[in-house]
This record gives sequence, C-alpha cells and structure tokens, in this order.
Amino acid sequence: MQYENITLENLQNVQILSINRPKVLNALNEATLLEIETAVKSFSEDKELAVLIITGSGDRAFVAGADIEAQYPLDAEGGRKWALLGHRVFTLIETIEKPVIAAINGFALGGGCELAMACDIRLASEKAQLGQPEVTLGITPGYGGTQRLARLVGAGKAKQLVFTGQRIKAAEAYRIGLVDEVFPPEALMEEAVKMAQTIAANAPLAVRYAKIQINQSLQINNDIATTVETGLFGLCYATRDQKEGMGAFLEKRKALFEGK
Ligand code: COA
Repeated sequence: MQYENITLENLQNVQILSINRPKVLNALNEATLLEIETAVKSFSEDKELAVLIITGSGDRAFVAGADIEAQYPLDAEGGRKWALLGHRVFTLIETIEKPVIAAINGFALGGGCELAMACDIRLASEKAQLGQPEVTLGITPGYGGTQRLARLVGAGKAKQLVFTGQRIKAAEAYRIGLVDEVFPPEALMEEAVKMAQTIAANAPLAVRYAKIQINQSLQINNDIATTVETGLFGLCYATRDQKEGMGAFLEKRKALFEGK
C-alpha cells in the first residue's frame, strides 16, 4: 500500500507511524484518517510487530487538529459523518490488542489531542502544546475528546480546557495527567522507542489482555456517549458561528460570534 499522508518505519518489532502533512501542521483530513485506519489494521494483523508509535512529521506539530479548510463547508449531516470517521479510526487505535504510544512532538490540538488520547500512553516533548480549541471555531470536540479528556484529567479540568479552548504546555499537561512523561525534544523518539522495546520484550498475550482489561474498566456507556457527541458535533455545522469561526481562521482574522 502506497501512503500519501503518512509514513511508516519499522525498527524490528516496533513500528513508527508519522502523520505527514507538514504544510498544514499535519492536520487530519479524510484521506489521512483512512490511511491511518489501513495502517493501524495492518499493524494489528502483522505478527512480527508488537508496539506502534504514532508521531507527527517535522519538528512543529504532532497534529494541529482536524483539517479546518476541509471542515468549513460541511453541513450538519456532513459534520456528523466527519465525526463518525474520526471515532471509527480512533476507537480502532484504542481497541486493537497491541499497545500504541503517542510521541507528541509539537502541537496536539483538537483532533491531534484526541488522537493522542486514543493511544495507550502519551509521551511529550518539552515543546509540545496541547488543547481542545474547537469552541474558538464554533464547534465542539468531535473525535472522542469529550469522553477521553474527562476520563484522563477529570470532568473539571476537561471542561476548563474545552470551554476556554486554551493551549497548555507539556509541563502542565503532565501535571494534570494528560501526558505521562515529558522529554527534551531531541530525546523524545529515542525514549518512545526504548519504552516500546521494553513493552515488546514482555509477554505479548499478558500485555494484550492487560490492555483489554484496563480499557474495559473505563467503559462508561461509550456507545451512547459517541452518539451524543457525533450528533451535537454535526449540529454545530447548522450554526452560523461554525462558518464564522472557521471562516475567520481561514481568513486569518478574529471571529465574531453571534450565538446563532
Ligand atoms: N487545519 C487546516 N490547516 C491548518 C490547521 C488545521 N487544523 N492548523 C494549521 N493549519 C495551517 C495554517 O492554515 C497554515 O497554512 P498556510 O501556511 O497556508 O497559511 C499552516 O498550517 C501553518 O499554520 P500557522 O497558523 O501559520 O502557524 P502558527 O505557528 O502561526 O500557529 C497553530 C500554529 C497550531 C497555533 C495554528 O495553526 C492553529 O491555531 N491551528 C488550528 C488549531 C485548531 O484549531 N485545531 C482544531 C481544529 S478542529
């Protein structure tokens, strides 16, 4: 399979998947999500591979969010479908029976933060910045953010991050439990590979069963939460504020919201 938006590298039984759209800070569009889905399925089925590391190409971004230009024209049903695709791919990452580590090398915003949260472990560079800025664009988080963020950092912090839309630095993300370790930028990949190799040296079935157990212990009506999140995400595209928020970003100006 030839990929256009991601690259894959194998280091023995560890695979590194890099999102590779540097011109848009690795923003996720439909084609990229579908490529991630195909690659994650192949990783999951490949008996030679034990641990997956997901990172962003270049030195600025892990993933700066879902692609705003691609989302701008959506209507409510288009928005719901957009969110459902993200859910499908991120839930695949979360539920494959092998560990996935996010190596957060820069901006992890919106869908980027949600991608990192779908991974089992999050390692960040000191220069990473994380956040859920969707409300600044007139939409809500749509790729599992409202569920996974609250689970990771508690409802209060999740609401603070989502309602303010503000970015936080790696040290603060570590403090609140959004990332699990922070490293100097130049050490991040080396440390991620080292951790992946440590995991890969352990009993594969025990690691697999542990992932299933921990995931199951966290399930709180995920199906219902997904329906609510994708439905309300889609509804945002029926508002004028969505066009204003995303239009303002694309035109590089400040958004003026009407609450309509
Ligand atoms: N979707 C589409 N394009 C994006 C993008 C996204 N999520 N994030 C960044 N880009 C593009 C920019 O439009 C810009 O393109 P251009 O060079 O053609 O103008 C390019 O990536 C570089 O981004 P820029 O904004 O110039 O870099 P910056 O250093 O000034 O700011 C960010 C970096 C990440 C703070 C800023 O790009 C940003 O806020 N991005 C959107 C984050 C977001 O809201 N994500 C959630 C989306 S639902």
